[in-house]
Amino acid sequence: MTAVLRWADEPGGGPAVVLLDQTRLPAHEEERWCRDVPALVRAIRELAVRGAPVLGVAGAYGVALAAARGDDVEAAAAELAEARPTAVNLRYGVERARAAWRAAGRAGGDATGTALAAARELHAEDARASTAMAGHGLELLTRLLPAREAGWRLLTHCNTGALVSGGEGTALAVVRAAHTAGRLERLWIDETRPLLQGARLTTWEAARWGLPHTLLADNAAGSLFAAGAVDAVLIGADRVSADGSVANKVGSYPLAVLAHHHGVPFVVVAPISTVDLDTARGADITIEQRGAEEVTGSGDGRHAPAGVAVHNPAFDVTPPDLVSALVTEGGVAPPSEVRRLAAGYDGPRATELREADGMMKA
Ligand code: MRU
Repeated sequence: MTAVLRWADEPGGGPAVVLLDQTRLPAHEEERWCRDVPALVRAIRELAVRGAPVLGVAGAYGVALAAARGDDVEAAAAELAEARPTAVNLRYGVERARAAWRAAGRAGGDATGTALAAARELHAEDARASTAMAGHGLELLTRLLPAREAGWRLLTHCNTGALVSGGEGTALAVVRAAHTAGRLERLWIDETRPLLQGARLTTWEAARWGLPHTLLADNAAGSLFAAGAVDAVLIGADRVSADGSVANKVGSYPLAVLAHHHGVPFVVVAPISTVDLDTARGADITIEQRGAEEVTGSGDGRHAPAGVAVHNPAFDVTPPDLVSALVTEGGVAPPSEVRRLAAGYDGPRATELREADGMMKA
């Protein structure tokens, strides 16, 4: 597969952040070259690169790009951090590279090289976090779910695989681990209106990985639960606030309500960099509102009357009491214990986050 995201600095070409353009999938596997920060910001807003963990990695490379071009790094960092407001990983990745750049600059070192090294380090850490989450998630499912001879029927929403990560992803990495362990009967994939990340991207990844899968319209999920055909729901997260509330792709909250009603585990898989202890409650999470055209039509066609009022939040918030468990690279906990999980985890993400946070406040 074309790399989801990579750094290029070819002789004569100048530096660039190169993305697998997710707006063109599944029909076309094309690269999109971002040679300056405005181009990268556009790519982020258009969802050419998307999904919380990889947004952090993209943001970090963006800071390195600004530095390598000799642009105003502080202004570029601010622009990148604000490109999309909900996934806290973006801000985290930007701050981490920016902090590294500033520290090297103050010490008279190679600030550009240090920012790039920070981005590369985050990229590699993200891959390691994926592997750890897949292991913890599989262990959790084995504990929570009765062993079914045919395997588990898992339902997911949006896209949480290799396209969102330096590794195999978050929730989808757990599904893949279940498949590898011979425990997956079927992956139910919500289409994920309005931008169809499930229909376009998760089906594409599931097919490449050989996962038995079935696509459904979002509003068909209820009938699957009623039929007893869902053993667990696995989703990712764009931000987990200090009270354990989970912001994720719009449509996640109704699934949590359904799962609760039917006594089905609702599991959130996200790296520590998705935890935002500075945001106290779910109600404080900024929810991105997107354009009306995403709802009034699809592709080049429009199916709603011109000028109709549209409500198009990109994310919704699931309260902690509807989440059975939060799976991170640092382990598994109920969402109400997210503070303990983040504080007790000594991995580089948490440490760097604390340091970057200190620098921001300084
Ligand atoms: O708007 P998107 O496609 O960036 O939204 C992505 C999601 O909501 C994912 O579920 C979330 O980022 C978790 S992926 C690890």
